[in-house]
Amino acid sequence: MVRLDLSRLAGRMTKTVLVVGGTGKSGRRVVSRLREQGALVRVGARGAPRPFDWTAPQTWDAAFDGVHAVYVVPLDGAELTAPFVERAVEHGVERVVLLSGRGVDVPAYGSQDSPLAITHISGERAVRASGVAWTILRPTWFAQNFSEGFFRDAVRAGEIRLAAGDGAATFVDAEDIAAVAVAALTAAGHDRQVYELSGPRAVTMAEAAAEIGATAGRDVRYVAVAPDAFVAELVAAGWPRVDAEGYADAVAALRTGLDAHVSDGVQRALGRPPRDFAEFVASTDWAG
Ligand SMILES: NC(=O)c1ccc[n+]([C@@H]2O[C@H](COP(=O)([O-])OP(=O)(O)OC[C@H]3O[C@@H](n4cnc5c(N)ncnc54)[C@H](OP(=O)(O)O)[C@@H]3O)[C@@H](O)[C@H]2O)c1
Repeated sequence: MVRLDLSRLAGRMTKTVLVVGGTGKSGRRVVSRLREQGALVRVGARGAPRPFDWTAPQTWDAAFDGVHAVYVVPLDGAELTAPFVERAVEHGVERVVLLSGRGVDVPAYGSQDSPLAITHISGERAVRASGVAWTILRPTWFAQNFSEGFFRDAVRAGEIRLAAGDGAATFVDAEDIAAVAVAALTAAGHDRQVYELSGPRAVTMAEAAAEIGATAGRDVRYVAVAPDAFVAELVAAGWPRVDAEGYADAVAALRTGLDAHVSDGVQRALGRPPRDFAEFVASTDWAG
């Protein structure tokens, strides 16, 4: 007969999962899903009850109190994941799930020495070297960029201007990213796995705009802008040139077709296919 060690189980159940970036697109959904499972969760964000600020390392220690597993949404442009993971291990954290990005291992995908690439490359190196259980998530462009992120204001204005040509992306639903993260944080079998995450279908920016417009009941169109003109438009709108060039660099993979392939991470991690872009569009409130 199988005997359950209930005292060990109880000890584990009282431990906390720290969700760094727990107010963002994937992190917020990780928090909800963990709480639905009855897990103890601490949000790591600047406005959290126990404020966590990447740029203020003196706020990190309190975040680790009683924590056995951490979901890490890194601070883009910084190389703080390594010292953070080191600190986590010192505090007894046993499991780290890192949000990285598609293309970190593909030189043609984007500039490998851009601040964004450096964040993800150095972050992945740090978790692999941590000595504790780790899982790396490499999502492509989030579908929620249209409703909560980079493209939200453009969708509201009815015109998405981007240097993406007629390229397509297999947009991944942040619900799927969160589902994979929660599986990796709470279940066995995900240690030392790198999950490349995408949706099941390549969607061009024009198709995405049309699908959203049809559901929202208003015109939403996509306008392809040449890369130099795109950077110039952003700079004219007040962006620092380095950020504008970084954005154009991130979009280049879309334009060149490197974001149009389907990845198998959702299927491998969860044993089911990823959500289609149409499900994201249909389940989103576009009234705002
Ligand atoms: N968006 C995409 O399509 C995409 C695709 C692939 C990979 N990624 C990667 O996914 C990660 C998340 O990007 P995202 O744009 O989707 O952002 P997000 O997760 O929606 O939001 C950023 C999160 O970071 C937190 N944060 C920002 N500055 C912070 C600071 N100084 N200290 C503590 N927390 C801070 C924010 O919390 P507070 O503001 O509440 O403090 C928020 O929870 C990035 O590493 C990005 O490279 C994104």
